[in-house]
Amino acid sequence: MRKNIVAGNWKMNKTFQEGIEFAKELKDVLANEKPNCDVVICSPFIHLASLATILEVTEIGVGAENCADKVSGAYTGEVSAAMVASTGAKYVILGHSERRAYYGETAEILKEKVKLALANDLTPIFCIGEVLEEREAEKQNEVVYNQLADSLFELSDEDFSKIVLAYEPVWAIGTGKTASSAQAQEMHAYIRSVIAKKFGNEIADNTSILYGGSCNPSNAKELFSNPDVDGGLIGGASLKVNDFKGVIEGFN
Ligand code: PGA
Repeated sequence: MRKNIVAGNWKMNKTFQEGIEFAKELKDVLANEKPNCDVVICSPFIHLASLATILEVTEIGVGAENCADKVSGAYTGEVSAAMVASTGAKYVILGHSERRAYYGETAEILKEKVKLALANDLTPIFCIGEVLEEREAEKQNEVVYNQLADSLFELSDEDFSKIVLAYEPVWAIGTGKTASSAQAQEMHAYIRSVIAKKFGNEIADNTSILYGGSCNPSNAKELFSNPDVDGGLIGGASLKVNDFKGVIEGFN
């Protein structure tokens, strides 16, 4: 059966020292109260190796927020999937709406990143979601379908089954405006039906689909109680241990 996962996405926050402090505190907190879901921290590249070392003895996973679409070579400033994997990280967020919007990441680029992540045994947390105008025009299903089809439909069944999806309506990210529980469930069920049609029922049933967008300790429980919502990708509320713990407790 699919896993329930709560994954933090620090984005461009926390100095190296702040990140280390957070990891130590989270480790202690979760050692006392075992979570009822998988827990992952996705951080800037600079934290990865240290987080992986600190969290090695725990079940908390570590992930990057991005990786390059090239294997290696003269790409100044880029970090490859192999480099990410060499830190001990096991996950990588790909296709986040901020990467798509601010850094011009296209479906084609994302296809390459997914391939390289999988080739290096990283689990992609692949983000999809519509902007406000698309929702207002009732185009959200079409948008999400195309994002899935354009970057993931060429994968083999085996490779697709390694992907974690995150539905993140762009209008809900960092805005304090969460999708309602019903809106989240409706979209997650639609996404699962798309996967079932393309990759079969078994793979669809086993795919974890996380919700992201202003998920916090006060709404996590309701969101996670939906049958097709398998956890969350958490931005703002992943920056403080107490808030993040509150979201994790959505599975209690
Ligand atoms: P948010 O971000 O929780 O701050 O809305 C979620 C995300 O962008 O992954």
